[in-house]
Amino acid sequence: MPDDVASHYSGGGDLSDAIADSLRRAGKDLGKLTTADLATVDEFHIRARRATLEVAGFLNLDRASHVLDIGSGLGGPARTLAETIGCHVTGIDITQAFCDAATTLSRWVGLSDRVDFRQGDATSLPFDSAMFDAAMTIHVAMNIAAKDRMFAEARRVVKPGGRFVAYDVLQGEGGEVRYPVPWAREPSISHLATPGTMATLLADAGFRILKVEDSTEEGQRWFEEIAAHLAKSAPAVTFQAFLGNDFPAMARNQVINLRERRIRTVTYVCEV
Ligand SMILES: C[S@@+](CC[C@H](N)C(=O)[O-])C[C@H]1O[C@@H](n2cnc3c(N)ncnc32)[C@H](O)[C@@H]1O
Repeated sequence: MPDDVASHYSGGGDLSDAIADSLRRAGKDLGKLTTADLATVDEFHIRARRATLEVAGFLNLDRASHVLDIGSGLGGPARTLAETIGCHVTGIDITQAFCDAATTLSRWVGLSDRVDFRQGDATSLPFDSAMFDAAMTIHVAMNIAAKDRMFAEARRVVKPGGRFVAYDVLQGEGGEVRYPVPWAREPSISHLATPGTMATLLADAGFRILKVEDSTEEGQRWFEEIAAHLAKSAPAVTFQAFLGNDFPAMARNQVINLRERRIRTVTYVCEV
């Protein structure tokens, strides 16, 4: 199953080359890139950088913090924290191609000294216990059936008193998800928990839940804008750079999934 997830995301070819091509087509100078130039492609979740900044605000961080990003993707969230807070972020992701691209993109924007990425499975983290001041996971649990193991591992590696924030896509009350979606072309690698199940899983892992925030409505507006943009304009720097020609259909489905509350986006702020 983790192999199926990795092949869903890695596509064909070198991801950083594909992203470089889409940036050039959008008129960007690759020698002068900023994290803002990358944000439409490397913050691979609903509400992109805005949502990452919200998560960052919940994590109680300072410059000395070492944060774990579980399911770090192309590394956008890790770089956003490293840039805005000055902390160090380690990312772990099941998809080797994403880890490689995350390392390259970090070099492009001069953040290699504050982020590092390695391949690994969220349900079996290759880290000592209580190694991190905080941990986050953004739009990852939806691909993982064994969320009990994922959350137990997250709790194990965060120091006592540290925060863990999970911002994820959940099963809504409006019916079955319409596929393809950005995390799955069909249901076999999609494992959405309901809001109630998610809270129970986090509590069972030993977390104290401090806050729960539902951002479905804002997420719907955000995806409506993306779908409208894709419908009318030339290729922009979007997730299409690595999801390929399926992405416009995924974006249209996401608008329906969010509008009909087939999915919800919810953030859980937890403490160890
Ligand atoms: C939608 S992307 C989100 C990436 C990143 N968190 C972001 O918001 O930009 C989901 C990520 O979860 C990763 N992933 C899925 N299952 C995983 C697992 N068992 N362990 C680690 N990473 C996993 C995928 O490879 C992918 O990079």
